[in-house]
Amino acid sequence: MKYCKILLVCTVLIALQLGCQSKSKYSSDLDTVLEVKIDHLISQMTLDEKAGQLNQLSHEWQADPVDVESEIKKGHIGSFLFVKDVHLRNHYQRLAVSESRLGIPLIFGYDVIHGYRTIFPIPLGESASWDLDLMEQTASIAAKEARTVGIDWTFSPMVDIARDPRWGRIAEGAGEDPYLGALIAKAKVRGYQGDDLAAPDTMAACLKHFAAYGAAQAGREYHSTEVPVRTLRDVYLVPFKAGVEEGAATLMSGFNDLDGVPATGNRFLLTEILRDEWGFDGFVVSDWESIEEMVDHGIVKNESEAGSLALTAGVDLDMASQSYIWNVPRLVEEGKLSEDVLDEAVRRVLRIKFRLGLFDNPYVDPDQKEKVLLADEHRAVARQSVRESVVLLKNEGDLLPLEKNTGSIALIGPLADNQPDLLGTWSVAADASDTVTVIQGLKKALENNHCDIRYTKGCDFDGISTEGFAEAVWIAGQSDVVIMALGEGERHNGEAHSRTDLNLPGVQLQLLKEIQKTGTPIVMLLFTGRPLTINWELENIPAILLTWHPGIEGGNGIADVLFGDYNPGGKITATFPRSAGQIPIYYNMKNTGRPFIQDVRYQSRYIDSPNTPLLPFGYGLSYTTFTYDNLKIEDDQVEIPGVVKLSVDVTNTGNVAGHEVVQLYVRDLVGSVTRPVKELKGFQRVYLNPGEQKTVHFELPTSDLMFHDINMEYSVETGGFKVWVGPNSAEGLEGSFELF
Ligand code: NOJ
Repeated sequence: MKYCKILLVCTVLIALQLGCQSKSKYSSDLDTVLEVKIDHLISQMTLDEKAGQLNQLSHEWQADPVDVESEIKKGHIGSFLFVKDVHLRNHYQRLAVSESRLGIPLIFGYDVIHGYRTIFPIPLGESASWDLDLMEQTASIAAKEARTVGIDWTFSPMVDIARDPRWGRIAEGAGEDPYLGALIAKAKVRGYQGDDLAAPDTMAACLKHFAAYGAAQAGREYHSTEVPVRTLRDVYLVPFKAGVEEGAATLMSGFNDLDGVPATGNRFLLTEILRDEWGFDGFVVSDWESIEEMVDHGIVKNESEAGSLALTAGVDLDMASQSYIWNVPRLVEEGKLSEDVLDEAVRRVLRIKFRLGLFDNPYVDPDQKEKVLLADEHRAVARQSVRESVVLLKNEGDLLPLEKNTGSIALIGPLADNQPDLLGTWSVAADASDTVTVIQGLKKALENNHCDIRYTKGCDFDGISTEGFAEAVWIAGQSDVVIMALGEGERHNGEAHSRTDLNLPGVQLQLLKEIQKTGTPIVMLLFTGRPLTINWELENIPAILLTWHPGIEGGNGIADVLFGDYNPGGKITATFPRSAGQIPIYYNMKNTGRPFIQDVRYQSRYIDSPNTPLLPFGYGLSYTTFTYDNLKIEDDQVEIPGVVKLSVDVTNTGNVAGHEVVQLYVRDLVGSVTRPVKELKGFQRVYLNPGEQKTVHFELPTSDLMFHDINMEYSVETGGFKVWVGPNSAEGLEGSFELF
């Protein structure tokens, strides 16, 4: 680096003697050195170079043409997104390091959402595994692969709580629950970042979209959000806070207007909560052009004001809008923006660049990727992750698992022989040809058995053509069993793919009804990125496996489950509604003053639908059965602060071994503000052999029962609680305890 070494050495020594402290997880005494280095760099920077550090350009879809190479050399670009060619990445980096005045390296970001080249199940699917170690492992593999092509930083995990399946981005997160969401946020941050951000196989994580983006009104993408501060803090912010505590290096601000202030210009969120309360010392990136979009929100008159508002609120890096590079230097010169605010943002960006080791190791060995991408062990984890994410929704008459020597199987549906749609949303670096399709998975699983697999598509996802029905019905009628591979395509969910109708798209349900008339037993594979309203299917189809968008090992993992090589144990992490009219519907709602009572008219109810969901949060079956007995609460009077200790006996009463996710819920009966009817407060994923019984112990610290009370204090209140331990949010053994 080109800055003056002698001066630097002196200041570092002085700083070491001062021995300042920092709050970051990555802090050490050396952080003092780092802050001095940053000070020294900032002291040499021009206003343009400072604004340059806050300017992130996109390699693709950049709206305004930029002479990229010359701008890098001038120090006007601090970061790129969407560069995945490692040679180009190294070239840009060389221009920054060797040909810009101060030699500050670039940071390269990318949407590595559920794997880089090895694509795992979509996050909503993976969350159904409730397996935190596995989720950490898939993130760690994603980091390892991405870093070999020079991606320093992923725009993941998305930790938005989503209570509305109309919102297409529900696919990208961990569902509706803040407790589970927080644990998954931590697992993902650990997986991506490891213990050392500077290691060659870790990358910086980004918690997004800060905040409450998942509460988009009517489930319509980019729509405004109206979230009371208490709900914001007790629900939507919980996974963000957890991720920050785990050491997440960055956050991304949301596109949404939150109670009148766009998240990207929201000082309350970005400074008061994130920095002042939580002590976050990494940087915040805007979402794509969300700075200039504040003009359309109607909170500023022009892009210059937008830049000023965002920077002052606490957005450090401008993704794609160039509002900072074009306006910030002038605003500072005109005295309209404080240079201290600018310096602080630059400091945060440089801090992460240092922590990532980019100053010491700015380049990536282009040959590494051949050894790392799609390694056999990565594919093996992907397959395991498919198996664990699959949720058995119904299994009438134990139709599943199928015998491998079933004489003939009819395989029908638009997802049966389809590689790209199995990948799911945000598989941007994937190669669809890596995907094992359902038909390939089945053939492989049955290669040593006599089973005739007869495939026909039957119909497309969209459109009204029923041309393929006749062949599908004929094949189904001739076969011993039918496997229907139905659901959403990759393009039906994810960003900008909100839906008002949550039935199977196109004529798929019509096809299913025709096939059902043949009388051949049907196993339905439901590929989806969101809960769907599958009322008829649940009523009429004997066996349904929820397979999500499973990624490249989809066909293999699904075959493992279909033929019983793996016993499914997944549980849904987002409620399945009966109709879109019930939305928002989530398990941890409030009771109301008129909770539902059968046959009583003036209670909180619909005249045309039950209140209950089609499938509750936490639901999922197994090829075996589990019973719950003997709920014991060690001491039902617990003093605050303390620990509520409980246990339950869980027995595998069936014939095969399997996993059960044992779930603990509580209800705080009387609060200074009303409390949810149930809240998840613990779970354990246990493995039981046939006939085996385990006593599952929970320790619930009273601090886990805190919420924002009537005075907006974060506290736990005395009084009575109900507690349930069971297989999902609607069933379980019930007990009670009291806090004093
Ligand atoms: C917009 C999306 O909202 C965000 O999640 C993503 O990371 C950026 N685009 C970059 O692709």
